[in-house]
Amino acid sequence: MAETVIIQKPEDGIAVIKLNRSNAANALSRQMLYDLHEALNEIKFDTSIRAVIITGEGEKAFCAGADLKERKGMEDAEVKRIVSLIGSTINEVEALPQPVIAAINGAAFGGGLELALACDIRIASKEAKLGLTETSLAIIPGAGGTQRLPRLIGLGKAKELIFTAQRLTGEQAEDIGLVEYAVQGAELMEWALNLAKQMVKNAPLALIQAKTAINKGMQTDLATGLKIEELAYSALIPTEDRMEGLRAFGEKRPPVYQGK
Ligand code: COA
Repeated sequence: MAETVIIQKPEDGIAVIKLNRSNAANALSRQMLYDLHEALNEIKFDTSIRAVIITGEGEKAFCAGADLKERKGMEDAEVKRIVSLIGSTINEVEALPQPVIAAINGAAFGGGLELALACDIRIASKEAKLGLTETSLAIIPGAGGTQRLPRLIGLGKAKELIFTAQRLTGEQAEDIGLVEYAVQGAELMEWALNLAKQMVKNAPLALIQAKTAINKGMQTDLATGLKIEELAYSALIPTEDRMEGLRAFGEKRPPVYQGK
C-alpha cells in the first residue's frame, strides 16, 4: 500500500510534507493521522530542517478533512477518539518549532482547513476551495477551527463562515486574510518554496524563538506577551549565530548560520 504521507527535501533546509491519498481527496484516515504524526515527530527533532511546507498530492485536494467513509461505520466512542486524534495531530503541526507554510493546492474542507489554520502561513491556488463545512454535516469544527479561525480573520467573519458552511475560492480567502496569497495553481509550489528559501537564509534559532514569541504571546495579555518576547530574545543572546550575524555585517558578506 502506498505511503499516506511523504516527506520530500527539495532544497537544503526545507522539508515538504505531502498528504498522499489523492484518490480519497487526501482525507485524514486513521492511517494518515498515524503517518502524519510520525512525519511531524521526525521533522521536529531534525535541526537540519529549517522550514516546512505542507501540501496535498494531486491538483484537486489539499485535504478534504476527516475521512467520512471511515467515520460512517464508527461507534460514538470511536468517533470521540478519532476526533481527538485529528485535534492532537493538528496541534502537533502548530507546535513544530520550524515555520510551516500550507500550500493549499485544492479543496481544504473541515479538518483540511483546520490543518492549514495550524500552519504559520497559508498560500492557496486561486482555484482552491476552502471552508469549515462541518455544520452542513451536523457537527462542528473539532480540530481547532472554532478557535483558530476567529483568531485569524475576526469573530464575525469566522462565525459567518462556520454557520453557513460556505466554500470560498482561494481569491475570496485572500480577500478576508484567510490566506496570505492566492496564486496560479501551477506557481503554487514555487511561491511556497520561494518563501521558505527566504526564511532558511535567516538564523534557525531566531526563527524558532520568533515563532514561539508570536504564538504564545498572541494568546495572552500584552504585558505577559512582552515578557515572553523578552525571554525569547534572551535565549538568543549567547548563541554563536548572533555573533556570526554581527561578524558578517562587519565583513559585508552574507552570514552562515549553524543553528548554534
Ligand atoms: N472522506 C473520504 N473520502 C472522501 C472525502 C472525505 N472527506 N472527500 C472526498 N472523498 C473521496 C470521494 O468519495 C471520492 O471517492 P470515490 O471515487 O471512491 O467516490 C474521491 O475522494 C474523490 O472525490 P470526488 O467528490 O469524486 O471529487 P471532486 O473533485 O468532485 O470533489 C471534494 C472533491 C473534496 C470537493 C468533495 O469530495 C467534497 O466536498 N468532499 C467532502 C469534504 C468535506 O465536507 N469535508 C468535511 C469533513 S468534516
